[in-house]
Amino acid sequence: MSEQTWIDALAADELPTDDVLGVAIDGHDIALYTVGGEVFATDNVCTHGHARLCDGFLDGHEIECPLHQGRFDVRDGKPTCEPASEPLRSYPVKVEGSRVLVRIG
Ligand code: FES
Repeated sequence: MSEQTWIDALAADELPTDDVLGVAIDGHDIALYTVGGEVFATDNVCTHGHARLCDGFLDGHEIECPLHQGRFDVRDGKPTCEPASEPLRSYPVKVEGSRVLVRIG
C-alpha cells in the first residue's frame, strides 16, 4: 500500500458532533474529532502515557487527556498543556460523499 493512500474510515454520519471518536484504521488507533463541522485526526494514544484520547474531553480544538489532563491541539497534534510535551501524530482527513477518509502515511 502506498504511503499516501487515503483509507476509508467510516460513514460521515457515524461521526459525533463536536466530539471525539476512537476508530481502528488499517491497524492504527486513531482519534477523529469534529469541531464546528470540520474533521481532524490524530493518534488516539497520548504521548505522555497510555491513555486513549477518545476517552478524554474535547474543548474547542483541544483534546484533554483523561489520565493527567494534558492537552493537545487536534489540528496539528501539538501539546498545549502540561504534562503533555511531545506532539501527537496528526493525519489528513477528508469527507468524500458519505465517507470519511484518512491518509495514514
Ligand atoms: S497520559 Fe495523557 S497526560 Fe498523562
